[in-house]
Amino acid sequence: MCGIVGYVGAQSALDVVMGGLRRLEYRGYDSAGVALVADGALFTEKRAGKLSNLSKVLSEDTAPPSTLGIGHTRWATHGAATDRNAHPHLGARGRVALVHNGIIENFAQLRGQLEAAGHELRSETDTEVVSHLLEAELDAGADLTTAMQRVCKQLDGAFTLVAVASDDPERVVAARRNSPLVIGLGADETFLASDVAAFIEHTRDAVELGQDQVVTITRSEFDITDFAGNPAEGKRFHVDWDIAAAEKAGYDYFMLKEIAEQPEAIANTLLGRSATGGRLQLDEMRLSDDELRAVDKIIIIACGTAFHAGLVAKYAIEHWTRIPCEVELASEFRYRDPVVDRDTMVIAISQSGETMDTLMALRHARDQRAKVLAISNTNGSTIPRESDAVLYTHAGIEIAVASTKAFLTQIVACHLIALYLAQVRGTMFGDEIGAIVDELEQMPAAVTKVLATIEPVRALARELRDAPAVLFLGRHVGYPVALEGALKLKELAYMQAEGFAAGELKHGPIALVEQGVPVFVVVPPQGRGQLHEKMVSNIQEVRARGARTIVLAEEGDDAVTPYADELVRLPSVPTLLQPLVATVPLQVFACEMATAKGHDIDQPRNLAKSVTVE
Ligand code: AGP
Repeated sequence: MCGIVGYVGAQSALDVVMGGLRRLEYRGYDSAGVALVADGALFTEKRAGKLSNLSKVLSEDTAPPSTLGIGHTRWATHGAATDRNAHPHLGARGRVALVHNGIIENFAQLRGQLEAAGHELRSETDTEVVSHLLEAELDAGADLTTAMQRVCKQLDGAFTLVAVASDDPERVVAARRNSPLVIGLGADETFLASDVAAFIEHTRDAVELGQDQVVTITRSEFDITDFAGNPAEGKRFHVDWDIAAAEKAGYDYFMLKEIAEQPEAIANTLLGRSATGGRLQLDEMRLSDDELRAVDKIIIIACGTAFHAGLVAKYAIEHWTRIPCEVELASEFRYRDPVVDRDTMVIAISQSGETMDTLMALRHARDQRAKVLAISNTNGSTIPRESDAVLYTHAGIEIAVASTKAFLTQIVACHLIALYLAQVRGTMFGDEIGAIVDELEQMPAAVTKVLATIEPVRALARELRDAPAVLFLGRHVGYPVALEGALKLKELAYMQAEGFAAGELKHGPIALVEQGVPVFVVVPPQGRGQLHEKMVSNIQEVRARGARTIVLAEEGDDAVTPYADELVRLPSVPTLLQPLVATVPLQVFACEMATAKGHDIDQPRNLAKSVTVE
């Protein structure tokens, strides 16, 4: 996923574009670049590495004054993260500059055609092929808009393209297919960006572009067509984020801010969704009650942390609705020839709404006539747009690459959907649903309580900074929590970490346990007697082999005390809701461990906030 900004207006294009790129740097930070149109020429500057590398060069350079420009932060797909591969890319004679997010799947064939026609391509990227094609259209007499329309018809794959031409100082032209692009409408200025964070300090009026559309912007207007040049419409909306929401609000890292925002994120996700008397109302649910009653199987598709949220949700969905529920890695789903038909509900969970693995799995499900329900945190993103219904998590913008508040709100959203299905299908009474909604509404306070007593977990992370590996054990809904705790430690502290179903330990993984190995154990509430007893036995098993046991257990659970080297107390909550409180110490542990190791918390190495390539 890359960050893209385009601008035309009365301000300094360089200032506006660089400011926008700073807000989008979380989308990718392998390289960055800008292109400005000034005095009939193109000024471009680009550098590998973070945006600060580009800023440094630009501060020494004398960029010409310009009111029209584009910019890009890159997450490498084709070609290493080098200056040469950084965007913008130019046409053969430097008349066109182009930035791109996505992947051109037929770029090799197009490259071959260009080289056969004498073009010399300087980079390894798929993007440069497009800049050459655009410029060839201009040289053949087309204007930039027509050139973009013609070139887009030749491209396969996913792309957001934004281009300027040296001899066209009035307009920026862009196009999108399977990749995000929004227009910002200012007073006598117009913006283009991958997401609204890039321009909300200038305007909150935005237009979301649809699939296979080309947009031409000038200072005062915008015009949308399809790839054939026919007039088309975008979807106008108002951005309700505060600028502060895109800043760190006093925290050192976005991740710390987002961990602290989790109580509010849960509350906002519940807001307005339960009417009096416990009857749920999910106004974004555009599937009819009859369609919901006909559902005979649910398949959750997602990646990474979102996949773990699906694993948690499975227990509640099956228990409350009695509908069989499978949870599948989106990247595996369509290759296993899944059994899907019109009575299957596929739930696609995606914070960004742009994860290509999940999007392609969703499309496969729709081809098989499944009903698709999206759970996403990003309004107007591709996955919700291509679903039959959507339930937005209202977690607010999540900037840190390591997902935290999105995870908790995805679990809450899944529980709301499960309760809604139970309500529509009559597998639960209204008062039972109301009681669970009441319990969910206690969760913000429960998470606040965990955060208020989290300091010992931070101290433990600093003490264990040199541990060679960390294991995580859980049972039932605690098992996905163990997986999520391990993923957080991998992606933030770059440590060997693994989550296991505790009952599986004796079938092999217990061989990993030796003196001093830290083992986190998520203990189910005592109310689930059998589960609880077995987990206490598992703690003894690993401790007998030298493990350092870090036990997460509810207040008042004294059965674990003799076997806990470290004891992290959790508020007493219902078993199915325990992931909402048990995950938080693991998030904080990983974040503090990464801090102790001096890592970049918000932008861990090799990662991007949303992976828009398969
Ligand atoms: C989470 O910490 C990771 N950054 C990653 O696993 C992420 O959850 C995954 O890529 C899915 O992203 P999505 O929710 O935007 O689809």
